[in-house]
Amino acid sequence: MKIYKAKDYTDMSRKAANIISALIILKENCVLGLATGSSPKETYRLLVERYKAGDLDFSGVTSINLDEYRGLAPDNDQSYRYFMDTNLFNHININAENTHVPNGLEQDSILECARYEELIRKLGGIDLQLLGLGHNGHIGFNEPAEVFTADTHCVDLSESTIEANKRFFDSADDVPRQAYTMGIKTIMQARRILMIVSGDSKAQIVKQAFFGPITPRVPASILQLHNNVTLVGDEAALSLL
Ligand code: GLP
Repeated sequence: MKIYKAKDYTDMSRKAANIISALIILKENCVLGLATGSSPKETYRLLVERYKAGDLDFSGVTSINLDEYRGLAPDNDQSYRYFMDTNLFNHININAENTHVPNGLEQDSILECARYEELIRKLGGIDLQLLGLGHNGHIGFNEPAEVFTADTHCVDLSESTIEANKRFFDSADDVPRQAYTMGIKTIMQARRILMIVSGDSKAQIVKQAFFGPITPRVPASILQLHNNVTLVGDEAALSLL
């Protein structure tokens, strides 16, 4: 595992944008696994900036997102599809048809999860998967559990995740209780993992995830078994390492 220590959130985002930019330049038809949340926002802004400066071309890129709330329409401003459109896709020259997010409106979860797995397979797998880290160690929406769930699945969100994500909604009651998420195997099959973490509230869980026991109680701990992981964190998030 490579660990890059950044000064702060801005520096973390710059380093992450550098790594993603390098991939796009070297492999113009790459498959990018993308994430939502506050961690990647500035990274996306920098990618947009570089596109506008003429340094990046997304016309051959395909994107596939980690997760989506179940029940939210794409135009709901809390959906992850909306987040991706407004923070990245609408501002770059990626072909909209090549941007993929689980369909939150699909009621049949077995169908939707199977469709998503098949889609990733058809795309030839993910070249680089960008990940944030939940305070409870979740990646995507793989919540702490007794076992790792391998494939894309429908998950009941934990109380701590609902609590953490309610800041984006009018109230905790408005946070959807379920989500579709890539599974642990889906994520682990990505050829390269790039995790970004910032802030002292993540320090403890970063230490547990990367230097503690590998357990489904801390889903991100499985990344210790991946052979190409880059962790980019700011000083605060990496302060306990
Ligand atoms: C959310 C998302 C994750 C994200 C994580 C951390 O619940 N499902 O994909 O990485 O929580 O979010 P943040 O970056 O806002 O701390």
